[in-house]
Amino acid sequence: MRNPLCRPSVAVALFLTLVSSASAAVTTVRISNERRQSFDDGWRFFKGDAPGAEKPDFDDSRWRELSLPHDWAIEGPFDSKANPHTGALPISGTGWYRKSFTVPDAAKDRYLSIMFDGAQNNAHVFLNGEEIGSRPYGYISFSVDLTGHLKFAGQTNVLAVRLTPEDRSSRWYPGAGIYRNVWLDITGPVHVGQWGTFVTTPEVSQEKATVAAKVDIRNRTQNQARMTVQTAILDPAGKPVTRVGTPADVPHGSTQTVTANLTVNRPQRWDMEHPAMYTLVAEVLDANKKVVDRYSTPFGIRSIKFDREQGFLLNGRHVKIQGVCDHHDLGALGAAVNRRATERQIEILKKAGVNAIRTSHNPPSPELLDLCDRMGIVVMDESFDMWKRPKVPNGYAKYFDEWSERDVRDFVRRDRNHPSVIMWSIGNEIPEQGSPDGGEMAKRLTGFFHQEDPTRPTTSAFNNPEGAIRNHLGDNVDLFGVNYRPWQYEQFQKEHPTWLVYGSETASCVSSRGVYHLPVEKYQKHPSLQLSGYDIIAPPWAYCPDVEFFYQDKLPNVLGEFVWTGFDYIGEPTPYFGGGRCTDNSKDWPARSSYFGFIDLAGFPKDRFYLYQSQWTKTPMVHVLPHWNWAGREGQAIPVMAYTNAEEVELFLNGKSLGRKKRFSEPVVIPVGRNASRDEKFSSKYRLEWQVPYAPGSLKAVAYSAGKQVAVDEVKTAGAPARLSIVPDRTTIQADGQDLSFITVRVEDKDGNLVPGADNLVHFAVTGAGALRAVDNGNAATEESFQADHRKAFSGMALLIVNGRKGQKGRIHVVATSDGLTQAATDVVTR
Ligand code: GAL
Repeated sequence: MRNPLCRPSVAVALFLTLVSSASAAVTTVRISNERRQSFDDGWRFFKGDAPGAEKPDFDDSRWRELSLPHDWAIEGPFDSKANPHTGALPISGTGWYRKSFTVPDAAKDRYLSIMFDGAQNNAHVFLNGEEIGSRPYGYISFSVDLTGHLKFAGQTNVLAVRLTPEDRSSRWYPGAGIYRNVWLDITGPVHVGQWGTFVTTPEVSQEKATVAAKVDIRNRTQNQARMTVQTAILDPAGKPVTRVGTPADVPHGSTQTVTANLTVNRPQRWDMEHPAMYTLVAEVLDANKKVVDRYSTPFGIRSIKFDREQGFLLNGRHVKIQGVCDHHDLGALGAAVNRRATERQIEILKKAGVNAIRTSHNPPSPELLDLCDRMGIVVMDESFDMWKRPKVPNGYAKYFDEWSERDVRDFVRRDRNHPSVIMWSIGNEIPEQGSPDGGEMAKRLTGFFHQEDPTRPTTSAFNNPEGAIRNHLGDNVDLFGVNYRPWQYEQFQKEHPTWLVYGSETASCVSSRGVYHLPVEKYQKHPSLQLSGYDIIAPPWAYCPDVEFFYQDKLPNVLGEFVWTGFDYIGEPTPYFGGGRCTDNSKDWPARSSYFGFIDLAGFPKDRFYLYQSQWTKTPMVHVLPHWNWAGREGQAIPVMAYTNAEEVELFLNGKSLGRKKRFSEPVVIPVGRNASRDEKFSSKYRLEWQVPYAPGSLKAVAYSAGKQVAVDEVKTAGAPARLSIVPDRTTIQADGQDLSFITVRVEDKDGNLVPGADNLVHFAVTGAGALRAVDNGNAATEESFQADHRKAFSGMALLIVNGRKGQKGRIHVVATSDGLTQAATDVVTR
């Protein structure tokens, strides 16, 4: 955290969003063999305080009907007076949600609880007027027990949730509302506890794996329960491979842990290339051998090791961590969890060669971990951005004393069966690095993590490593994470011969997609509120990617790095936080989201994406920059850069060779800050550069390895905007209301070249079996709403997100139009 959080709290105009409706829909709870069912549909929402809204007879008929997950803040509007750190969006205030439901009499002897994957924040949960639970931390999953408060015999139950997120509670955009999924859990009186399994693989080899399963059995009856716990393993195809029965005598009112050891021969090991997922099915059988509960736990068979000499080993194989830090928002969709949007982010990251994600700086959605399990990404699972000493006045520090132990234990129990999770972070840049009690506090937290999960190391991301060394905070984590000081890795390794060091947060280079400023020089801010795509601009504590590559290459036993960040995120628009005075943000308005990502907020790669790709991937690639529209600079030298993983690149201007350059052999001198080099220059061998006298036409980079052409990239001088092009990322989606198609719209000249500076206003008409969900263009400095049927292009591109409707199979027809341009249309099938 470098920028002062300077905005006073802002009174956000609370407005009513009313949707008239005759009567509140009442959900009927089904009792089935499934333990868990979605509780996302049939809610009503009111933004603002509503005294008495917890009472069952409260009239909510004029409240807005919606399905969860829901983020009210993303609806906007952006406000120049609101805090830019949190995205200048209305993240604070009071919000109420209510859901009415009936429970059949058949459920009288059942136990019902509601799991909130996350609610932002300060949740108070009421059932039929009585408060049944509360949870302040917006990122933690928590459950509330409905037992004893439910009405049966056709009577309506009302679940009400009040949230009161505060201004100045976060350093980035947190979202607001019940922004994650909600589940109803139904069990009998004897059942597997919540997050009640822990599956580990103490021995893993190619021939054989030992799977140790701990299963918590809870007995809520008045009697001793004599049960059998049947534990079975299903292979990735769902075929049973082994099973064991274990007797359990559980005293009344208590929970007992049953341990089963199973063997899997010739296991399919979970790896990045082959992320094979097994399932542990725990069945609880009563004395008559009747199954009274069934609980499934997906898990992976894999070994992890962190070795001082060899670095990170996955199944015995060295893997360099090529990671990104990412916040949880999904761009134009805000914080509202969406599985497909999360999957798309990971797909895009993987193309850059990313193999790891740090969930900065909080517990992620369960969907993110499921997808990392299935897509072969390893995860640094992070708990906190602060402990007791606040970074912002209304942040987690307020709750730390009362809630930190509970939050940590719940967090680990929820996430510890994911093979993707390889380390637990006890915190990011914790201010206690500088206080005498920091070491003791770390010891306490690491203790909770290790008690709940002895198989994974803890870590913390240090921006004050000297402080953390002095007060022994560093001694109380297993892996020493260093933020923004790669030049000190070697020193920390030398001074602490047993420590494992890595870049927990690196680079923080800033840029805007498709924008290039000449000459190539470092500056703090640019009047355009954009930042040059030559990938050299970084705030004072930061540096361009090349610097990190250099130290990582030098020290192969450094575990790797987590780049700040993969995707741009809403909030923290460094360096545009206003003028000299903290209360005046007008100077930099409307900058409201980050420039740190190597992918913009809309999901479009910036040039830096390819710089990482050139280091992190093997499939031959070359990328050339900048664009080639420099009218008025004819004959002047334009710096042209190429990023490649091939051996050589030859550059051609209008078919004429400008010479070949060998990778790593002709370093490019780029400007850096004093932190990275005393003379503020860094000689980067990771780029190739030519000074090219500008002439319009074609600029082509041809890459060669072993004498053969292996990749080509070309930019052409574009003419005037003439037409739109439209390309959906998927042309068939599920008709479930949640699945999405991300549609890219480009402004092109008559020959199909992207027009680099184009900012034409594009209108979207979406008809048929779906609806428009959101729009964006990746511009970090605009107050245009994400929820509109139009968007200006930014650097020639815009994004439209559409969803199908639940149960409606058919076609979504999308037409993009813009004044003076030939329109473009596409169809997305819903199934
Ligand atoms: C770090 C901090 C991140 C983000 C980043 C921006 O110090 O941990 O949350 O603020 O700086 O460079």
